[in-house]
Amino acid sequence: MTERLSADALSILLQGRDIHLNHYGTHRQPFAVLGGQGVHQRLAELEGERAGTTFDVIDASGGYASACLGANHPAVRGILDRALTDVGYATDELGSLERSHLLYELFGPGGLWADTFPGDAYHVSGRNSGSEGMELALRMVLESRFDQRTLRPVPGKEERDIIVAFEGAWHGWTSGLVPLLNRRHYRVGLPAQETGKPYGVTVEHVPFGDPQVLADYFGDRGHRVLAVVVEAIQGDAGILLPPPGYLRGLARLCGSHGALLVADEVLTFAKSGAFFAMTDDDGPVPTDITVIGKSVGMGVLSTSMVIARRSLTVRSSGAVATSDLRPLTCAVLRDGIQLMVNDKLLEHSATLGEQLGELLRHRLVDRFPELYREARGVGVMHGLELTEAAAARLDDLRRHVIRSGAYVEFMAGAGRRSRGQRYVFPTMRIAPPLVTTGDEAEQLVDRIAEGSRRFREASA
Ligand SMILES: Cc1ncc(COP(=O)(O)O)c(C=O)c1O
Repeated sequence: MTERLSADALSILLQGRDIHLNHYGTHRQPFAVLGGQGVHQRLAELEGERAGTTFDVIDASGGYASACLGANHPAVRGILDRALTDVGYATDELGSLERSHLLYELFGPGGLWADTFPGDAYHVSGRNSGSEGMELALRMVLESRFDQRTLRPVPGKEERDIIVAFEGAWHGWTSGLVPLLNRRHYRVGLPAQETGKPYGVTVEHVPFGDPQVLADYFGDRGHRVLAVVVEAIQGDAGILLPPPGYLRGLARLCGSHGALLVADEVLTFAKSGAFFAMTDDDGPVPTDITVIGKSVGMGVLSTSMVIARRSLTVRSSGAVATSDLRPLTCAVLRDGIQLMVNDKLLEHSATLGEQLGELLRHRLVDRFPELYREARGVGVMHGLELTEAAAARLDDLRRHVIRSGAYVEFMAGAGRRSRGQRYVFPTMRIAPPLVTTGDEAEQLVDRIAEGSRRFREASA
């Protein structure tokens, strides 16, 4: 149903949008969200002849892949109600009943994640966002090289001056993380990496997904590798899944060369059909640090969790954060994760993922080969890679798809990669909420197809 906003409502939307810092540096999207229910969002057109008209979209983005329960989930109201009335507040200096319940239920004996991260081997911290969680992980890696009491290098660690990251990786915006991105656009103008002893560190990038490249790299420089930082499925690079055995092989190489393995599961958390994507047929792939974010806040909080081996820590008081596992946050995580288990949402997303993959291949890649090069993914984490020609007109394509009723967003794609790996073009991210039904997935794909058809017609 199309309605028209009043002139006043449109004017407020436009003025508010103008005050919001535009960090994209380009013309803003001409849409605003008015509200939502489940996987449906109500959008308003903000510009041109259509300004003020409203329309409905199915959300393929899940709010940057965070709103895992969609909008206005009835259980979330109950969760927030308990979190607000029941748990009080506490700093991280004090114990908290709610925090203890959460951590015990996840990591304590028999806990939900105790097989992967037993609480006697791992400890846990909380941060406000994925980037902040990754910053803490990086700080733990750096601090593992020096003695926090004497503030001198740990004997034997002086040689470890390389952090390995992957081409096309995305780990966040903050300054400490930017060196992990092999993208000039984000790095230029920010402080250069420090090199040289005793604490200099450099980041080297290798292409993702080729076990031989990893084996050669470690054969050559394994003794210098302090840590490897990896996304279990590369997100911004275009939803690139590693070949079977790759992540376990990486963990083995890290283990045998004394390097730390940091898994960035900010995006993959609860999206691959399991809580953790660092998993294969043999079970969990061991890591030294795992960072989870986005969906862990159940779409109502921005939060992240850093799960690290107990030997990895930060200097005294060095990482105090007012956001470290507040009781309210813990209540949302605790009840939200329980909801995922009770409602079998991960199992559902695994099945949905197979259906979605088929639909994307048959109704989009096969029917629009001039626009879409490949569909790949698992669970509620899929990517539809554009062809070079479509990538050149991405904004136009995106608006046609949105106006056809599917809200989609794009990831940069890994671009040029070394050692003969092919170029990866921008990729449409299809990461709908976990609660998406099979019918909704089908409607979503049909709406993307309709937008693609209109784009094709308009371009003819
Ligand atoms: C893999 C990965 N790591 C870290 C981040 C940063 O998370 P946040 O935006 O919550 O800071 C993102 C965000 O997209 C991500 O995809």
